[in-house]
Amino acid sequence: MTATSAQDISARYHFACDVARQAAELAYDFYQRRQQLAVEHKGDDLQDVVSQADREVEALTRRLIAQRFPLDDFLGEESGGSGGSAACTWVVDPIDGTACFLNGLHTWCVSIGVIVDGDPVIGVVYDPNHQEMFHACKGQGAFLNHDPIRVHAGSSLRDGVMGVGTSHRVTPEDFVPFISRLLHAGGMFIRSGSGALMTAQVAAGRLIGYYEPHMNAWDSLPGIVLVREAGGVSNDFLADHGLQRGNVLLMANAEIYSQLSELIQQKIK
Ligand code: IPD
Ligand code: CA
Ligand code: CA
Repeated sequence: MTATSAQDISARYHFACDVARQAAELAYDFYQRRQQLAVEHKGDDLQDVVSQADREVEALTRRLIAQRFPLDDFLGEESGGSGGSAACTWVVDPIDGTACFLNGLHTWCVSIGVIVDGDPVIGVVYDPNHQEMFHACKGQGAFLNHDPIRVHAGSSLRDGVMGVGTSHRVTPEDFVPFISRLLHAGGMFIRSGSGALMTAQVAAGRLIGYYEPHMNAWDSLPGIVLVREAGGVSNDFLADHGLQRGNVLLMANAEIYSQLSELIQQKIK
């Protein structure tokens, strides 16, 4: 795999922000007429839904990226794809928080990450309901629109609110004991329904951390870049075939991260 130049990375960073904006515009248009959308279930999980909006927004992002960077790989939640053979892989969830989107809740976003030479390097999360673009590129800091952002400075779980998520890809036992331990430690949590957006909120210091026992790459990678660039840490998500299979996701500032790791270890024991 050849090393990608700073210029190549910069071109993709700016383009990722453009694509997120265009994708969000189309998604928002569908959102305003969501009652007319036919909804399908994915497999046996009745909570895992998809609509024409998810498919068309992903098709738009795939087309725009292929036109501009035809040699790059693309991996999307709805249309799948490859990842890892080209120097640059785009990882896209066209609408993260589909259940919120379809039910008229505001917590959904467009989520775009780029892996460069095997490393998560670009992360963009765009929330069209609040016109908030969270974006970061490795080594350049993290931003909310034009303003730099930092992770929460708290040193105790009592100092802030955790973002958490779960799905039917794991069992209740993989998740519920963590919540009990968090509450016993004096912590508190929210689950907004959009994991990608909550990871961006961690980068912006609005949430003290994020934990989910299994997240997919298209939901996790943008936030990982954002949080690391905002001064926080996350687990090695791409280990154990994380790109293809997903992985546990844990992120926070370094001190809170180690406290959370301990709570999760207790669950694993
Ligand atoms: C889901 C959301 C949810 C998270 C799940 C994801 P979707 O994505 O991000 O918050 O807990 O792991 O699958 O289905 O809304 O794109
Ligand atoms: Ca998602
Ligand atoms: Ca999705």
